[in-house]
Amino acid sequence: MKKFVTFEGIDGSGKSTISKLVSEKLQSAGYDTIWTYEPTDSTVGKYVQECIRSQSDPFITSFTFIADRILHCKQIKQWLNEGKIVLCDRYAESTYAYQAAQLESELKNPLKWLQELSENRILLPDRTFLFVIDPKTSLARIQHRTELIPFERLAFLEKVHMNYLKVSKGKRFLHLDATQPIGTLVKLCYDDILR
Ligand code: TMP
Repeated sequence: MKKFVTFEGIDGSGKSTISKLVSEKLQSAGYDTIWTYEPTDSTVGKYVQECIRSQSDPFITSFTFIADRILHCKQIKQWLNEGKIVLCDRYAESTYAYQAAQLESELKNPLKWLQELSENRILLPDRTFLFVIDPKTSLARIQHRTELIPFERLAFLEKVHMNYLKVSKGKRFLHLDATQPIGTLVKLCYDDILR
């Protein structure tokens, strides 16, 4: 059984909807489950949201996302010690995928740089689900949102998508076709967590 599980994917991939439904299903089955997310609602997390809105310097954005996560990990550790299952909507791979796309013209190897900054400072999930979807399809899904944030543009999301595929190799990751019906995706995640 997996205890710390993260949900990743580009904007519009459906991971928030699915992770919430999986959390409810686990809770209904009697598993003490916490659903949490990043950026968090902490003071640092709120500052991160401001960095995105104001298209702040990508280094500031990167450091702040990582600081928000290091703080969040203290809380996650506590929940795990209490025996809870923790589901987190976005985590480290979001920073690798999005901030590496932002930093590609600033650094030779932004992915490596971001991974080294995080290494040994954050918890390693037992499972990371990657919701894989073509950026054009995901953008079409979120067009109705009244206020699209600066990251929700096709060229940028294409880069984020490629970065996600690069960083999600290894047995911690499970790639899911995000265009499958919601019920199928919820069941796939639920069964995998309990396995
Ligand atoms: P959300 O739509 O899941 O609330 O996330 C807000 C945006 O923040 C989304 O476009 C992805 C972005 N983001 C990063 O760029 N880096 C990160 O580390 C995280 C957690 C989110």
